[in-house]
Amino acid sequence: MKIPLKVNGRTTEVEAEPSTMLVDVLRDELGLTGPRATCGVGLCGTCTVLLDGQPVSSCILMAPLAIDKEITTIEGVPADDPVMAAFDRHHAFQCGFCIPGMVLTARDMVTSNRAGNREQIREGLGGNLCRCGCYVKIIDAVEEAAQ
Ligand code: FES
Ligand code: FES
Repeated sequence: MKIPLKVNGRTTEVEAEPSTMLVDVLRDELGLTGPRATCGVGLCGTCTVLLDGQPVSSCILMAPLAIDKEITTIEGVPADDPVMAAFDRHHAFQCGFCIPGMVLTARDMVTSNRAGNREQIREGLGGNLCRCGCYVKIIDAVEEAAQ
C-alpha cells in the first residue's frame, strides 16, 4: 500500500506492506538512521520517535498508524537544540547508540515541564536504556536543560 507520511516537516509517501513497522520505513525507505531497531518489542527505547510530539517506540508501531501524524526523528531536531547542547556539554554519551531516543524523550519531558527533579527525570527516561551506563551524565544534562 502507499503510505503518506509527514516526517521532520516534510510530506512524503512510501510503498510498504501495511504491517511494516514505522522504524523500518524510516530507516529503509527514508534513510533516517537515527531511530535504531534493537529489541524490537518496545522495551529499550532506541527506536523512539515523536508522534505529534509524544515519544513512541517505532519498532512496535505499524507505519499506517502514523498517517496524518507529525513524525519527528533525531534528524529533525535542530543542531542548536538546548537538550542536545546540554548532552554535549555534559559528555552524556559513550557509543551514542541510545542517544537519539534519549534526546527525543528528554525533549518531550523538558518541553512539557515534566523534568522537575532527578527522580522525575530518571522515571521519565525509564523506557530508554543505555548499555554504556551513562545515566548519571544523561540526568545531569536533562536537569540542566530543564532549568
Ligand atoms: S527497538 Fe524499539 S523499543 Fe527497543
Ligand atoms: S551511550 Fe552507548 S548505549 Fe548509551
